[in-house]
Amino acid sequence: MTRVSILRIGHRPERDQRVTTHVGLTARALGAERMYLAEADSGVVQSITDVVSRWGGTFFCQDNVRWRRCINEWKDRGGTVVHLTMYGLNLPDVIGEIREKEKILVIVGAEKVPGEVFGLADYNVAVTSQPHSEISSLALFLDHLFSGKELSKAYPDAQIRIIPSRSGKKTED
Ligand SMILES: C[S@@+](CC[C@H](N)C(=O)[O-])C[C@H]1O[C@@H](n2cnc3c(N)ncnc32)[C@H](O)[C@@H]1O
Repeated sequence: MTRVSILRIGHRPERDQRVTTHVGLTARALGAERMYLAEADSGVVQSITDVVSRWGGTFFCQDNVRWRRCINEWKDRGGTVVHLTMYGLNLPDVIGEIREKEKILVIVGAEKVPGEVFGLADYNVAVTSQPHSEISSLALFLDHLFSGKELSKAYPDAQIRIIPSRSGKKTED
């Protein structure tokens, strides 16, 4: 299965904390391994680390990452870089090719993404050519990449686990 990391760029600590945390939680829940945050924000890292320690798995979040260096090192190590943008090629047209790659760095922006990112990416991918959100575009990208298999993923070392039920909330410690 393709191994996926996320690079979150353009994060503004004073207004994007909740959305960036949700980018990380979405990445974790849908099968990615880590999120690099191109800004210092220990609050985001702490929130995600708390979820991992309670709900299991090995998802890792690192802040204060230099985005240009992160992209270049990823490519130097043979990884593939996918930038999610509404200006890119539509997801169904490229996902088959991307699925063959071993290691993918998925870049999502906050506000305007530097033009340079479009050139550094191996694939600029649109999840429709309509504006929406980094959370929805990431979720759909990962679901198409993993063909829905991520929906049954298990999380080792969890302190808490949900027992799916038709009604009510059932959990097991
Ligand atoms: C709220 S959008 C802002 C986009 C910004 N206006 C720009 O021109 O770059 C934040 C991020 O959501 C993602 N995004 C939004 N719509 C998308 C789409 N249709 N396809 C892929 N990614 C999308 C992109 O990663 C984008 O950087």
